Amino acid sequence: MQYSDRVMDHFMNPRNVGEIEDAEATGLIGNAKCGDIMKMFLKIEDGIIVDAKFKTFGCGAAIATSSMATEMIKGKTLDEALQLTNKAVAEALGGLPPVKMHCSLLAEQAVKSALKEYYEKHDLINDDNRHLFDKLNEDAHDHA
Ligand code: FES
Repeated sequence: MQYSDRVMDHFMNPRNVGEIEDAEATGLIGNAKCGDIMKMFLKIEDGIIVDAKFKTFGCGAAIATSSMATEMIKGKTLDEALQLTNKAVAEALGGLPPVKMHCSLLAEQAVKSALKEYYEKHDLINDDNRHLFDKLNEDAHDHA
């Protein structure tokens, strides 16, 4: 299996690993088939994600994609972060082998799961953004 240099870099030196104790939102997502688990912590101020950290118990691609996903949402508005797709994360990493695309979906779902907690708490889910949470219901391995 061939990984890009960027995937290897984010796997070997993952950015934003850890926890945020006073996080405004946390998300936990797991994949029943491979058993990998990802936890996402978001610090939110005035509608902006000012910090994001993660803990991933999972494969190298899951670690690399969660690292890249946190980098991509930091400094973004909540609505912008909600638009993040696993495809964009994989592209930012220079691509992933097809059998590893489902790992990037786990990263998207971890971000969305944290955002969902926040949106629900603050009554921000509406008809315009509801569909963006749909991917939380998908089985990541359907995307292999
Ligand atoms: Fe399950 Fe990578 S093998 S997330």
